[in-house]
Formats: sequence, C-alpha cells, structure tokens
Amino acid sequence: MTSERTSLHGQWSSRWTFILATTGAAVGLGNIWKFPYLAGEHGGSAFVLVYLICVALLGIPMMMAEVMLGRRGRQTPMYTMRSLAEETHRSRHWQWLGFAGTLTGVLILSYYSVIGGWTLAYAFRTGTGAFHDASAEGVSGLFNDFVGDPLAVFGWHSLFMLMTMVVVAFGVQKGLERATKYLMPALVVLLLGLVGYSATTGYMLEGVAFIFAPDFSRLTGTSMLAAMGQAFFSLSLGMGTIMIYGSYLPAGVSIARTSIIVALADTSIAVIAGLAIFPIVFANGLEPGAGPSLIFETLPLAFAQMTGGILIGVMFFILLLVAAWTSSISLIEPAVTLLVEKFRMTRLRASVLSGLVTWVLGLGTVFSFNIWADYRIFDKNFFDLLDFLTSNIMLPLGGLFIAVFCGWLLAREVSQTELRLDGGPGFHLWHGLIRYVAPIAMLIVFAYAVGVIR
Ligand code: TRP
Repeated sequence: MTSERTSLHGQWSSRWTFILATTGAAVGLGNIWKFPYLAGEHGGSAFVLVYLICVALLGIPMMMAEVMLGRRGRQTPMYTMRSLAEETHRSRHWQWLGFAGTLTGVLILSYYSVIGGWTLAYAFRTGTGAFHDASAEGVSGLFNDFVGDPLAVFGWHSLFMLMTMVVVAFGVQKGLERATKYLMPALVVLLLGLVGYSATTGYMLEGVAFIFAPDFSRLTGTSMLAAMGQAFFSLSLGMGTIMIYGSYLPAGVSIARTSIIVALADTSIAVIAGLAIFPIVFANGLEPGAGPSLIFETLPLAFAQMTGGILIGVMFFILLLVAAWTSSISLIEPAVTLLVEKFRMTRLRASVLSGLVTWVLGLGTVFSFNIWADYRIFDKNFFDLLDFLTSNIMLPLGGLFIAVFCGWLLAREVSQTELRLDGGPGFHLWHGLIRYVAPIAMLIVFAYAVGVIR
C-alpha cells in the first residue's frame, strides 16, 4: 500500500509540474557555470566521460531514492527521515541525516547566491555596453575589477538573496511552477542559439573534441572525484532538495520515469553549455582551465562580437539568472520547511530568517575574491573551501547514508510499492545499484576527498 500522507506545504499540480520544478532545481549555475569550468580544469573529455557514467549509475538511482523517501515521508527532510526510520524500526538518529542535508543546502546557497549576484551584474553590465568592443584581455580585466570590488559583489549578492527570499516566501507552487514553464524552454532556445554562434567561430570541432574525444591519460583520481561531486551537485542530490520536492509529488506518479527525464534534461543542458562555450574559448585563445571566471570571461567576448550581441547577452544572463533562481529556491526549501514544522513559524518568517542566515554566511564568499583573498586554509580561499566541503564531502557523504538507508534498512516492500516497479528487473537493477554500487563509490570518493587514499 502506498502512503496516504500529504504534505503540510502543498502538492505539485501534476506530474509535469513536478518534472518542471525539479528540472528547474537541477538546472542552474551548476550546468552553465560550473560544468564547463570543471571540465576545462580537468582536461575535458576524461572528466565528461566519468561525469556521464556517474549520472547513469549513481545519479538516477539516487534521485529515485530521494524522491521515494520524500513522497513516503511527506515532511521536511529531517522529519521525513525520522518518520521513515520509525516506520522501519530504526534509530531516530537518522533524522540527523535530514538535518545535515538541510544545513548543506544553506551552505551551498551562501556561495551560490554570490555567483547568482555575478549573473545579475553581468546582465546589467552587458546591457549598458560595458563589454562593447572589448578584447579578451579587456573582458578578463573587467571581471577581475568587478570581483575585486567588495562593495559591488556584496550589493549584487544581497539583491539575489532578496529575490530568493521573496519567491520562497510566496510558496513554491504559485510563482515558481508558472515561471519555470516559460523560462526553462527559453533558456534552452538561447543556449542553442549560442551553440549556433559558436559554430561560426570555426572552432566547433576543437570544442567537440575537447568534450568528447576520450583521453584516458588525463583521467586522474582528482578528476574522477570532481566529476562525481559535480554529478551530485548538478542533479541536486545528497542534501534533501529532491526529497522535499518529492514530498510534494502526487501519489501514483512513476518515480523512475520522472527521475530519468529530469536527469537527462539536466545532463543535456550541461553538455550543450559546454558546446556553446569551448569553441569561443579556443577561438579567442583563452585558457579552458581558467576556473570559476570562465563563462564571465568568454561569453561577454562572444556577445561583443556578434550582431545584436547586447540584446542576446542581456537575455542570456537574465536566463542564467532565472536558472540560478529556480535552483536557489530549492536549496533553501528544506530549511524553510524545517522552521515551519518545528517552530510553527509562518512561511514568511521562516523564509526571512533562513534567508538572513544564508546572506550573512555568503559574506565569506563575497570577500574571498577581494579583501580576504589571501587568507588560505589548505591552499584554498573561503569560497574554494566551502565548495570543496559541500560538493566533495557533504554531498557524497549525504548520498552514502541515503543509499545505505534505502538499500539496507528500508523494508524492500516499501521501496517496491513506492517505486511501483513490482520486483521486476528494473527494481533489481535499482536495488543493486543503491545497495552496492552507490555506497562503495561514495565511500571511495569520500576517502579520497579527505586524503585517506591517494
Ligand atoms: N543543481 C543546481 C545547479 O546545478 C544547484 C542545486 C540546487 C543543488 N539544489 C541543490 C546542489 C541541492 C546540490 C544540492 O546549479
């Protein structure tokens, strides 16, 4: 029998709105900003190949597991874990897994919002013609000046955080469902348009080769670690976003099918972003391993050169902003629902409070590009450290425990009925991946990240 519970916070109006909202949560800065720069830093194809394998073997089964837990528990991740643990006669301490995920979301959002602020600033600056006729060095100089200015970065971060709080306060279903319906397709169209422009640079083949031509010599432990962390990050796994979105899913919707659709959409957009960006990088003799600044130093160049570039550029950064926005909301939703459920706060209060905490934490990232740039721990600045801690340690660790819980502790009947795979081959495949492959892979990644293995 499937669970009869419903969520206190509402429900998606249909299977499609769930798919749209979850794709909105998954597709974000991770696809268009982070995926290309990580691929660039880790040698392109080697990274991409591992990434694709991780999505197929870990990402999809993990997404199914999280949606399933969420829909069964129908509460904030912390209480979902607690009630499922009780249902299966396990320790209540499993609730701390949900709590840790909620915290991870806040930590990620604290820097995500700073980068979201960059996209806001870039939409504005492209529109005012700041990059008009600029050279490659000119554009990267402008970028360095921008992030070097603490006040500017602070201002844009604050604005982005405010935008996130407003939507979260209004509730996920209303504005968000409707917004994603129009804006996600628009993002895809613009991205494809950009690929079209990239093709005119004459460097498309180099771009394609960089992303796809297998070069196993560049496959290192570090690149595999980065690829797996990124697969989790991009699919929004390991912390409760998918769990809370699953908790609003109507009963009776196929979890397997919807998870596969979301994962495919997310992965396609990341690869298309790579195809749009790398030809521009090579055509202008830029460095693919430039790091977090990559798209902010390449795309303005493309926009400066193409006809109608200002308009397209503004639209592109606005849509990137929207992609970031629909993801930022999902990062804070677990914290907001926790405050509402635990302290009976209104949604408005809960949004303001969690938003404020995130905003303050974000200042660490704001200053890590300027006044605190020289404070380094393990040779990383605050932003790098936070990114490493969340993507490479907390998300895989969260994933590890979620996989162990679903694969080993949760009664088989529960997952079978929730997934509606009726013990067929699909179920056995999922169960095998969740029971053995996912925990082992994540254990290795974690051991590598903390330096137990080299
Ligand atoms: N997946 C989003 C992106 O690619 C970011 C994101 C939203 C996220 N929710 C998450 C990352 C939960 C990790 C966990 O930009």
